[in-house]
Amino acid sequence: MPSAPLDRATTQFSVAFGGTPDGIWSAPGRVNLIGEHTDYNGGLALPIALPQRTFAAVRIRPDKVLRMSSDGMPGGPVTIPLADVRAGSPGGWAAYVAGVFWALSEAGYAVPGADVAVASSVPVGAGLSSSAALECAVGAALSDLAGLELLGTSGGRTELASACQRAENDIAGAPTGGMDQLASMLGRRGHALLLDCRDATTEAVPFDLAAHGLALLVIDTRAPHALVDGQYAARRHTCQAAATTLGVRSLREVRPQDLAGALGRLPDEVARRRVRHVVTEIVRVGSFVDAVRAGDWAAAGRLMAASHESLRDDYEVSCPELDLAVDTALGAGALGARMTGGGFGGCAIALVSADHAVQVEADVAGAFASAGFRAPEAFVATASRGAGRDRFGG
Ligand code: GLA
Repeated sequence: MPSAPLDRATTQFSVAFGGTPDGIWSAPGRVNLIGEHTDYNGGLALPIALPQRTFAAVRIRPDKVLRMSSDGMPGGPVTIPLADVRAGSPGGWAAYVAGVFWALSEAGYAVPGADVAVASSVPVGAGLSSSAALECAVGAALSDLAGLELLGTSGGRTELASACQRAENDIAGAPTGGMDQLASMLGRRGHALLLDCRDATTEAVPFDLAAHGLALLVIDTRAPHALVDGQYAARRHTCQAAATTLGVRSLREVRPQDLAGALGRLPDEVARRRVRHVVTEIVRVGSFVDAVRAGDWAAAGRLMAASHESLRDDYEVSCPELDLAVDTALGAGALGARMTGGGFGGCAIALVSADHAVQVEADVAGAFASAGFRAPEAFVATASRGAGRDRFGG
C-alpha cells in the first residue's frame, strides 16, 4: 500500500533538500454540489472540501530564493529567486507554489524564501482542484511561517484564498473564479460551504449524508480535462460581455423574474443560452440549500439533474463521458447526478442511497466499457476540513 501523503512529503523534503522541514501543512481538493460557472458571475456555489489532500513540507530560507520539489513530478527541485516569479515563470506545477509567494508579497506581506516539498492524494487533472489544494497548502504554510496570522479567522482565510486565486490567475495563467480556493481554505467537516461570490461571504450548511443513509459518489470519467485552454475563458468572456450589454456589473444582478426580458436584449443565441444557465443555476443553488436543510433529498436530486441539463444544453461544457455517467447513475436509481467543476471532462457526482453506491458505480463502469470509454474511477466523498497545519517541526 502506498504511504500516506504526509509521510511522502516528509521523505520528499529530506531527499530533495536534506534535513527536516519547519512544519507540514495541507489543504483539500473540492467537489462542487451545485452552482457551476457561477463564481465568476458573482453568483452562488455550494462546494465541499474532500478528504483527499495535498501536503506541503516547508522550511524558511534566509535568502529570497524558492526551491520546490514534488514527489509526483520527475526531475530535481525547481529553483527560482522570488524576484523572478512572474506570469509563466516558473512554468508547470511550480507556478502554483511560487504564485502564492508572489501574490502574498503583492498583497503587502513580507514573504521569505523557502524550501517546499509536496505530495498529494488529490487526483491531478480530474477537476477536483488539485491546483487549489496545492496553493492553499502553501498559503497555510506561509501564513504560519511568515507570521501572517491569516488562518485563525474566516476573514484571514478568505484573504489567503484570494491570494491563492491570484497565483492561479496571474502566475499559472488559468482564468478561474474563486470557488476552489474558498472551498479548500474554508471547508468544514460535515458541512457544505455556501459561497456568495458577489462579496466572498460564506456560510456552512450541515451536510452529513451518512446520517440520512445517503452517499455522494464521485465518478472520475478520466476524460481529459484542461482549464488553461480557451473554452473556459470564452465562457467567462461571453458572460462579461452579456453583463455589459445588460448594463449590470455581473450576471448576478439579473433577477430571475427579469430573465426573459434580459434574454430579449441579448444579440445572439449563444449569449442567451449562457445567461440563462447562470441565472437559473444561481436560483438552483438557493433551492438546493433549502432542500438540504429540509431533508428533502428527492428535491435536491432533481435540482442536480436540472443543473446538469443546463450545463449540457445551455452552457455546453459537458462531454459524452460526463453525460453517460450522469444518465447511467440516474437510470440506476440515483436521486440526482450532475457534472461537477469546470467540465469538458473531469468528474460527475451522484446522490445515492448509501447501500446502493456500489451498484451505481458498477452500472457506470459497465456503461463506460460498452461505450469504449476508459474505465472510470469512483469514490464516496464526505465533507472534510479546510487547510491547516498538520505538524510543526520535521
Ligand atoms: C473551475 C474553476 C472554478 C469554477 C468552476 C466552474 O473549477 O476553477 O473557479 O469556475 O470551474 O464552476
